[in-house]
Amino acid sequence: MKILTVIGARPQFIKASIISDSIRRHNTKGKRQIEDVVVHTGQHFDYNMSQVFFDELGVTAPKYSLDIHSATHGVMTGKMMMALDKVMIAEKPDLVLVFGDTNSTLAGAICASKLHLPLAHIEAGLRAFNKKIPEEVNRILTDQISDFLFCPSQQAVDWLKNEGIVNNVFVSGDVMYDSVIKFSSREPSPTVKNIIHKMKKPYAVVTIHRADNTTDSKRLKQILKTLQQLIAEIDILFLVHPRTSKKIIEEQISCEGINIYEPLGYYDLLQLVKGSQCVFTDSGGLQKEAFFLEKPCITLRDETEWVELVKQGANILAGADEDKILSAYQALKNKIITNNNIYGDGRAGDKIISILHQLVPSQLNSII
Ligand code: UD1
Repeated sequence: MKILTVIGARPQFIKASIISDSIRRHNTKGKRQIEDVVVHTGQHFDYNMSQVFFDELGVTAPKYSLDIHSATHGVMTGKMMMALDKVMIAEKPDLVLVFGDTNSTLAGAICASKLHLPLAHIEAGLRAFNKKIPEEVNRILTDQISDFLFCPSQQAVDWLKNEGIVNNVFVSGDVMYDSVIKFSSREPSPTVKNIIHKMKKPYAVVTIHRADNTTDSKRLKQILKTLQQLIAEIDILFLVHPRTSKKIIEEQISCEGINIYEPLGYYDLLQLVKGSQCVFTDSGGLQKEAFFLEKPCITLRDETEWVELVKQGANILAGADEDKILSAYQALKNKIITNNNIYGDGRAGDKIISILHQLVPSQLNSII
C-alpha cells in the first residue's frame, strides 16, 4: 500500500513525523507494508521554518520538493495543484494524506479528489466559523471531499455531522499530543539554556503570524504595545515568524523591551514553553502545546477551533484588544492547568495508520 503525504508548512512537518513513525512501526510488524512517499510543496522554505524539522524529527525525507511559495493564496494553491497532479499521476498512490488547513492541504486534497484517489484528512472537523480566515475555507473544502476524516475531538465530529459528513469519521485524538509526549522530555539544548539564562523574570512565549494580525499592522501594533505594558512583571520572549518580521521592519513597529528571536526548532520551542509562565499566541498548534505542557494560553484571536480549551478555562480569547489581553493575563497567570487528555491518549498516529491499513482498498479505484 502506498500513501502519498502532502506537507508544506511548519506544523505539518511535526504532524507528519508522527505518521512517518507510525508507518515505520507498522512495517516492522510484518503486515501489508506501507510505502511512505512524502511531497513537500515548499510553502515554508527558510531553514528554521522547514529543514530544521526534517533534521530533528525524523520525517520521511521528501521524494518531491516542489519549491512553491511566496505568492497570493490563489496563485500558490494553483501552482501546487499543477505540480501535485503530475506527482500523483506518476506515483499512483493508494491514498493521499493531508494535514490541517493550509494552502498545501487544499491543493493536495483537490488534486487527489479530481483523480479519484482516496483522501484522508488528519485534523478534520475543526471550525472557527469565520470564512474570512483562509484556513477555515481550506479545512471546510478539504473535509467535504475527504474519504477518511480523523478528528482530534468529539466536538470536531459533531461539527462535521452538522455539515452532513458522517461516513468514515473517526475520533483519533490529536497527533500533536503524540508529538509533545514524544519530544518534550528531551534535555534543553544549549540554545534554549542560553535564552532562558538571559531572562531576568518569569517569561511568556509569544508568537504571532496569522494574516488577521499581520496583514493590517493595526492589530500587530496594538498587541505589541499591550505586551510592552507587561514588561515590568514578565519578560516577553517573541519568536518572530518571517511574515511578522517583514511587517515589523516595513512599518518600523516598536519592539522595545521585548526579547526578539527567530523561529526555533520544535524541541527548543517545547522546552521554552515548558519553562514559561504562560503563552500568548495566534497559532492553532501552540494553543494546544501550551495545554499539553500545562501552561495557560492567552489567544490573540477573536475565535478558536480549540473551544474545549476555552471551556475548561485553560485558554482565554483576547483578540488584539488591550483590555482583554491584560485582563486575560491577570486571570490566567497563576492558574494551574491540568492536561486531562481531551485530545486523546497520545497514540493518534498508530490509530490512524491501523484504520487506514484496514480500510483503504489495495486495488486502485482511481482514474489513473
Ligand atoms: C501558513 C498557514 C497557516 C499556518 C502557518 C504556520 C495557509 C493559508 N496558512 O501561514 O495556517 O498556521 O503557515 O506557520 O496556508 N515566509 C518566509 N519563509 C518561510 C515561510 C514563509 O519568508 O519559510 C513568508 C512567505 O514568503 C510569505 C509569508 O511568510 O510572505 C507568509 O507565508 P505563508 O506560507 O503564505 O503563510 P503563513 O503565514 O506561514
